[in-house]
Amino acid sequence: MGKKEGYQIGVIPGDGVGPEVIREGLKVLKASGERFGIKYDFINYDFGGERYLRTGEVLPNSALKEFKQLDAIYLGAVGHPEVKTGILEHGLLLKIRFGLDQYINLRPVRLYPGVKTPLANKKPKDIDYSVVRENTEGAYCGSGGAFKKGTADEIAIQESINTKKGVERCVRYAYQLTKKRNKKKELTLCDKANVLTYEGDLWRRTFSEVGKEYPQVKQNFAFVDATCMWMVKNPEWFDVIVTANLFGDIITDLAAVTQGGMGVAAGANINPEGVSMFEPIHGSAPKYTGKNVICPLATIAAGAMMLEILGEEEAAKAIEKAIMKLTGEGYIKSLQAGKMGLSTIEVGDLIAKFVKEG
Ligand code: IPM
Ligand code: MN
Repeated sequence: MGKKEGYQIGVIPGDGVGPEVIREGLKVLKASGERFGIKYDFINYDFGGERYLRTGEVLPNSALKEFKQLDAIYLGAVGHPEVKTGILEHGLLLKIRFGLDQYINLRPVRLYPGVKTPLANKKPKDIDYSVVRENTEGAYCGSGGAFKKGTADEIAIQESINTKKGVERCVRYAYQLTKKRNKKKELTLCDKANVLTYEGDLWRRTFSEVGKEYPQVKQNFAFVDATCMWMVKNPEWFDVIVTANLFGDIITDLAAVTQGGMGVAAGANINPEGVSMFEPIHGSAPKYTGKNVICPLATIAAGAMMLEILGEEEAAKAIEKAIMKLTGEGYIKSLQAGKMGLSTIEVGDLIAKFVKEG
């Protein structure tokens, strides 16, 4: 996406701590706007648990249509303790991911300087890779059904759908990213091809075929269970990992912990030809709601990803630099909620200040 005069950004603060972290994220985006002369038009949407409980509406199709006119979406968190599990996940988050065909879920895994990792003796240089998670298919497709529900003979079928087109565009994106990162130039396909042989075969064949277009990228294979082990034992082996939707969901929570916690892990739901959505990986964390103790860095880092994809690379880098100053120069004690030594608002204020100062 090329640079523009001004950006129309849809903002969905959502539930729980979502509004608090989004408030800080917007503060930082505005600071970047002041410094780099970027104009934003933020359009607020109150979708989430509260609205659902009030009106019974999760995300109307008309809103999805409206989203298609935006430049990007900035999302806080969805998940409300009084709403039955699955309603907001499917009706809001997945509806946007699928509806806008955001087929890539990009999750960088980076240990920032000064941040403690539970992995012994690992340094920032050892934990620096990206996970490319397929984001519109697999076990998330919602295909399947229940039969004889509530009886002793009950059957539940949950299917994983993998299409040639979906797998191909995902692995191609991963190859391109590996090339662009220009680090080890190694792409690892993470799967379970030893057991899930049908989808494994499709992924592996497609991975090899598309790989011919990228002779400079080395191809690796790792089963998902072993991937978890390597992520803990030797994270420095990874450059880019590409994987299916469910595996990607699971391994990126593990990855987030290795980078110091959910407080800093950001993700981008990308449609390279359309509208993308940026969010922290963490959920709505209801128990911390309104306490001004949650770490907003994941949301702030997601804002930086948004700027990068919009083509505002300088501004994106300035935000990343500000995060590294905060963590690396001892401003923040921990990224855990309540243990930062700073409030949510103070973290946002400091990052905004660093971004403005350059
Ligand atoms: C994530 C979340 C979502 C997912 C949930 C909330 C549907 O865990 O973004 O990783 O499973 O993709
Ligand atoms: Mn998840």
